[in-house]
Amino acid sequence: MFLQALAAKAETIDAALDRYLRQASENPPVIHEAMRYSVFAGGKRLRPALTLAAAQAVGAPERLVLPAACAIELIHTYSLIHDDLPAMDNDDLRRGKPTNHRVFGEAVALLAGSALFALAFEVLAGCRRDGGLAAERILAVVEEVAAACGTAGLIGGQALDVVSVSRTVSEAELEAVHRAKTGALFRAAVRAGAVLGGASPVQLERLTVFAEHFGLAFQITDDILDVTGYAEQTGKAVGSDARNRKHTYVSVCGLEAARRRGAESSAAALAALEEFGPEADFLRQAAEFIVSREF
Ligand code: IPE
Ligand code: IPE
Ligand code: MG
Ligand code: MG
Ligand code: MG
Repeated sequence: MFLQALAAKAETIDAALDRYLRQASENPPVIHEAMRYSVFAGGKRLRPALTLAAAQAVGAPERLVLPAACAIELIHTYSLIHDDLPAMDNDDLRRGKPTNHRVFGEAVALLAGSALFALAFEVLAGCRRDGGLAAERILAVVEEVAAACGTAGLIGGQALDVVSVSRTVSEAELEAVHRAKTGALFRAAVRAGAVLGGASPVQLERLTVFAEHFGLAFQITDDILDVTGYAEQTGKAVGSDARNRKHTYVSVCGLEAARRRGAESSAAALAALEEFGPEADFLRQAAEFIVSREF
């Protein structure tokens, strides 16, 4: 049931992404081809779906936050292209296809990732035209999403992920890496939907708590799937973390404890939604899905 609801949201998101991305034939074709290649390689669209669902949870229509949802997915796809580069995780498979740099070369992959990042903010700042949202709300979300991408968020987490390889880390340090490299964008995805959807301060606070637990549970499961998963399902190589000697919840805590931590975070995410009615059911189902998923 959740996968059906996710597929419906993904369809809406994909149609909008297709409008925002320039045609592959536009000059210079190579960059537009490379951007479209990774965006439409087949991601789960979980982050943008959460943006839509957060708006719905506070009683707003999803079309109001569709541009913001697309911006989040563009940022996520940029982060995947760069994460896979030889200088980072050096991976060959992503979303079930050869990674961007394997197809287009490293220079174009770097540029395509950066271009997706720039396009995200063009789309986000332009959402006043699409949805009739108040400029102050959009500006607040632009600031927050930018911060989530920066050194206090995704980039900071990726930097720690890279430099931690040469030393041992505690579970608390690893949690901080995960909250930054993955959690920050989930948090921004949910808060963007909530803020643009007109959440009350209490609703925003509860949804923020939800998103923080959700993001951690998501990355813990990602660590587990790197050990127990199948490339045919995850669309990426199994064992990438071990090959790169990355610290993960499995390497630091062991598989059983990792599963337990994931379940605890998922339960905490669910608990944060207690005061919401059925309009938050997609978020509830998502919290269950992320720890039971096989892809
Ligand atoms: C993978 O995210 C990157 C991480 C932060 C772990 P997803 O598992 O959501 O990747 P796609 O978008 O479905 O490909
Ligand atoms: C990446 O974490 C988080 C990002 C910001 C992209 P991983 O390196 O574990 O993600 P995967 O497993 O390659 O998708
Ligand atoms: Mg990585
Ligand atoms: Mg990786
Ligand atoms: Mg991983």
